[in-house]
Amino acid sequence: MKDRIARILEEGIEEFAAASDRKTLDAVRAKYLGQKGFVKDVLSSIGSVPPAERKEIGRLANELRAKLEAAFEKQKKALASAPGTGTVFDPTEPPAGGEIRELGRTHPLSAVVSDLLRIFSCLGFEAVDGPEVEDERHNFDDLNIPKDHPARDSWDSFYLGRNMLLRSQTSTVQIRVMEDLARMPPLRVVAPGRVYRPDKIDATHASTFHQIEGLWVDRDVSMADLKGVIAAFCRELFGPSVRTRFRPSFFPFTEPSAEADASCPRCSGRRGLACSLCKGAGWIEVGGCGMVNPKVFEAVCGERLRRGETLPPGGMPPFHPERVTGFAFGFGIERLCMIRFGIDDIRLFLENDLRFLRQF
Ligand code: DAH
Repeated sequence: MKDRIARILEEGIEEFAAASDRKTLDAVRAKYLGQKGFVKDVLSSIGSVPPAERKEIGRLANELRAKLEAAFEKQKKALASAPGTGTVFDPTEPPAGGEIRELGRTHPLSAVVSDLLRIFSCLGFEAVDGPEVEDERHNFDDLNIPKDHPARDSWDSFYLGRNMLLRSQTSTVQIRVMEDLARMPPLRVVAPGRVYRPDKIDATHASTFHQIEGLWVDRDVSMADLKGVIAAFCRELFGPSVRTRFRPSFFPFTEPSAEADASCPRCSGRRGLACSLCKGAGWIEVGGCGMVNPKVFEAVCGERLRRGETLPPGGMPPFHPERVTGFAFGFGIERLCMIRFGIDDIRLFLENDLRFLRQF
């Protein structure tokens, strides 16, 4: 039996090495390693070997199989890389099975996010992000949103047990960026990302949507800088003739605060009630903004101290409200996208309907 195994091995190795094309190689493989091949035959006759030798023969038989398989693989590779013999990859051939996959395309929201990042990077803003699962400190406390504020009611945010929630706004990233000891003013960041609110779903509300947050902190940043940035951004996104206006508003983390409007990019107010976008108002709201509330800077200074920030004796913390000012803004990305492309129902973004998605 041992002799037989040795002979099969020797001849097999020779035959595999001599196979000069794929067809011959496959035939040799069947002869040695196939269902009715030599190896199978050896394995099934182990039962008739005297018990004392069985273990040794079993080991040799397994070795035989492994070596022949290796000889097959080696020759297969050699044939494939040899010029003019093995399978040559022809990129012009149709795919096996005849199926040609349709190329995907950019989702309208992703297209708007790329545009926003391009525009803000031209204005000197760095793109950053933050976690979607947040604690109450980042989502509320340090943004000066008091414990009794209605937004903190349990039915107005998706809480994940005590103190943790799915962030309801990207303003959380303002805190995350400023409390990071690796950062110092001046600071210019934008943070696009997903936010969550248990709103009743309709044509303009979804429970998951996207915002882009902006923050600029430096010495002597003013409301004029804020207006300049928002005006530049609206012109870039909606067109060069779009104007911008501010309406007084309130947000706990900015003071003063404003609602920013752009003149209707579709009719500039000329079509009156007939305009389906501005409905005669001539203006459409883009988002909230304002000057960073000193209370936010104070919270950030406190957290940085807790994290071990060291100051020179008598030195002022880098984000001290007497040292820096800043502005912040937050826009709804779905909203910008709806204005830009004339989409009238926010649910379309989530339904994955190809008839909708193929239009972009
Ligand atoms: N976080 C606000 C919201 O979700 C939007 C916002 C308003 C962000 C004013 C800001 C801001 O940074 O200054 O409604």
